[in-house]
Order: sequence, then C-alpha cells, then structure tokens
Amino acid sequence: MNANPIFWLPSASVQGHAVDTLFFALLLVSGLVILLVFGLIVSFAVRYRHGSPAPRGEMPALIRREFEIGWTAATFFLFLFLFWWAAASQLSGYDPPQEAMEVHVTAKQWMFKTQQPSGPREINSLHIPVDTPVRLAMTSEDVIHSFWVPAFRFKRDILPGRLTQGWFQADRVGTYHLFCAELCGTDHSVMGGSVTVLSKSDYAAWLRAQPQGDDLGEAGGRLFVRLGCAGCHAGRSPVHAPDLAGLWNRTIPLADGSQVLVDERYLRDSILQPRREIAAGYEPIMPSFAGSVSEDELAQLVAYIRALGAADPAGETTTR
Ligand code: CUA
Repeated sequence: MNANPIFWLPSASVQGHAVDTLFFALLLVSGLVILLVFGLIVSFAVRYRHGSPAPRGEMPALIRREFEIGWTAATFFLFLFLFWWAAASQLSGYDPPQEAMEVHVTAKQWMFKTQQPSGPREINSLHIPVDTPVRLAMTSEDVIHSFWVPAFRFKRDILPGRLTQGWFQADRVGTYHLFCAELCGTDHSVMGGSVTVLSKSDYAAWLRAQPQGDDLGEAGGRLFVRLGCAGCHAGRSPVHAPDLAGLWNRTIPLADGSQVLVDERYLRDSILQPRREIAAGYEPIMPSFAGSVSEDELAQLVAYIRALGAADPAGETTTR
C-alpha cells in the first residue's frame, strides 16, 4: 500500500501486509455496523416519535422472528469469522518456517544486542536480507523490554528469564525504525535503533565487510569446558549424565512419564532449572547455573549443544 507515511506507515513485511488487510477489513465491517445502527436509531426515532400514530396490523418485518434469528446468526458467524482471522494471523507470527534465518536478541537497559549464530554482532542495529524469513530468539538481561518494528507490524515482549520468539519476512529494501515498546527505565525513550533490509547480494557484501565475529557455537564450546559442563557431560565421567551429542531436536522421555522436545527452551531451562524436567533414567544431581551464566552465554551454550548434532526425522543422528 503506497499511503502517505504521515497518515499510514507503509508496511514492509509479508506479515505487515496481512495485518493491514485485517485492519482495513475490521474498519470496513465496523463502519458498516455503525452506519446500520445509527440509521436504524434515526429512522425509528422519526417514525415512532412522540405523537406518531401507533403501528397497526402486521408487525414490522425487522422484529419478525425469522428475521431476528437470521440477523443474529449472520452477525454471530461474521464476528466468529473475524475472530478466527485475527487469531490465525496473530498465531502465525509465532511459528517460523524451518528454513528461517536465526537471530539472537538480548535486551538490556538500554540497548538491543543482536547476533546471528555465525554472523557479526550488532548493537541497536540489525541487518537482514530481503524476502527471507527471520526468526528472533529473544531474552532480557534485566527487565521487560519489547522489540517493535512498526513497518513490519512486529512487536514482541522480551522477558528476563524467558525465551520469546517471533518471526517476520521483510519484503522491501530499506531502513526501518526499531523501538523498545515497554517502559523499562530512565532511558526507555531512547532505546531503539534500526533494522536494515538489504537485497540478497548487498547483504552478502555487507556480511563480508564485517569483522569476523565469534561463532556462537564455538564460544559455547569454550564455555562448556570453562564452566565444567564437560566434566560430567562428555568423556568418561564417573557421573551418570546425559550425552549431549545428537540430542538436539529429539523428543525424549522425562522421569515423570511425559515427553519433551529438546529445543532451545528445554536446554535453557535445563541449565537454569535442571531439576524441573529430569530426563528418564537420570538422577537430579545437576546444580543450577542460574546467576552464573549470562543470557549471552546461555545462547552460546545452546548453540554449542545444537552444533553437537541434531536428530533427523528418521531418528538418526547427524552432525553439522
Ligand atoms: Cu527497553 Cu523500554
């Protein structure tokens, strides 16, 4: 939509166009309902005004039973449809496609740090290629923040101690405002930056021009040794601890009989609250690392465990 940005910020993502379509459909339906209701109020007020002759004979068509059932059912299904449309549109923003490019976002007072697993690290800035789904995995180091890119119609809260995710696919090259949309302290109003959408070739050139960043997984591997994780989880340790190779993306049984998918959420929780979801066959002996690893380090550890290998759909273990 090529609207004047003063009145309507043009959308720059696939999700943004869908949100705009929904918004205008809601506006149209609400406008028609308002017109209908006010029209009826005025016509009734005139027709049945004080001193007007009492209606005689047949009941007016509008209050006949068939008609009432008809319009009640019609509006019910119309609004049920709108609810379904809005809910489906919202929920789809949580379900990124498999091939989505990943970006880690760590928010803190008062900046956004962004990093692609083997890409450069940026502060208050994010460079992404156009027409590519981008999945954001976001955590906060202190208080609640919110990652808001109005042109993408994308806003997601970032909470301390929890992983939130969302995705979008930018479809217009350009630089777009990024804001924090949750009051988070003194400098909340200046917390933000920009998201730059580059053509695929410009993006490749931009990547090459960046200083060679530290690979998340490699940093995680060093941390794995430094924190002592390797003492129990690798090699010949007297401690009976799960072998982490090939664990990523596998569904494993828990001691309480339930099943869990080994994803980012589960690994994070296993490091911070290791006794909450115990894998079947293991003792709850691992200490919590809450407070001793930062959000950045958690992302590195998860990237490392992920790089140790993933179970493919057939259940075989593949190493990257
Ligand atoms: Cu961060 Cu407001």
